[in-house]
Amino acid sequence: MVLFSAVAMRAEEEIHNIQNIFEPTSTPAEGILEIAWVVLTICAGIFVVVAGLMVYAIIRFRAKKDDDGSEPAQVYGSNQIEMAWTVIPLLIVLVLVFVTARKTITIQNMPFPEGTLEVNIIGHQWWWEVEYPQYGFITANEIHIPVSEGDIKRPTIINLESADVIHSFWVPKLGGKRDVVPNYPNQIWYEPDETGIYLGNCAEFCGTQHANMQIRVVVQTPEDFEAWLKNQQTPPREDASVATGRRMFESLACISCHAIGEKGANNGFGPDLTHLMSRQTIGAGVADTNYDDIHQWLKDPDSLKPGCYMPDMKLTDDQLKHLTEYLLTLH
Ligand code: CUA
Repeated sequence: MVLFSAVAMRAEEEIHNIQNIFEPTSTPAEGILEIAWVVLTICAGIFVVVAGLMVYAIIRFRAKKDDDGSEPAQVYGSNQIEMAWTVIPLLIVLVLVFVTARKTITIQNMPFPEGTLEVNIIGHQWWWEVEYPQYGFITANEIHIPVSEGDIKRPTIINLESADVIHSFWVPKLGGKRDVVPNYPNQIWYEPDETGIYLGNCAEFCGTQHANMQIRVVVQTPEDFEAWLKNQQTPPREDASVATGRRMFESLACISCHAIGEKGANNGFGPDLTHLMSRQTIGAGVADTNYDDIHQWLKDPDSLKPGCYMPDMKLTDDQLKHLTEYLLTLH
């Protein structure tokens, strides 16, 4: 019951659904906003000078009533002016390069204490595999991490890999965008100081369902996070009332792509479903974890996520009913 109430509580948490770099709630994202302000200020200055000179030229040198039609003095090159418009932009670009590089290097080389939480994320067309190597379980699309409170920092290191094509992992309020490139492990870290659900998305076009490769980061209090960890580590529930559905899951082809506990292959073809109902969505954010949506997903995945790799299994009404009922017990 404690676990169920933890799940229910989560649904009421604030959803940070506006993906806004100007409202950072995590240390790396705050660093990025600092650079953004420097860049925006310099660019605003350039805009004011250029637009101001243009307006001045338009007014000062407009056609006048007593114009005799003769040409003004023609100027062919000026060493001073050319020097100025070469050197000033060069200095501006150098300042931008140094400010950005310094901040980026500080963020990337942050030292972390031994035992810092690590999450391995593997991008797939079109969902995210999420592994907690220190705790030995795998989930999908929703990443739970603890909140930092005041001086007590609880950073999370996120290791990124791709199983197929180039993806990009981006939750703007928590940190920068990081490309997820096949055979090139990448890393990012978060240190959020506000609980809630943070939305993000794949930020590199990766095929038909790129737009539906959503990310949910659930930032929890240490207690809620521990409860979630504990639930994820428990074996799948064996509810006798859904034994028919469970047998169908095993005898039909479901387990060749999806794992539920020890059963089925964790081969990365499809999301691990052991605690499916502890997640809010299916299909990386396209539908909810309720009876109707799961039923529809099993019946015709393409109707919810056109082009996805979950096949239409041509299930009978009876199979759909039993499978859906079984999946709904996987809290
Ligand atoms: Cu993955 Cu776009």
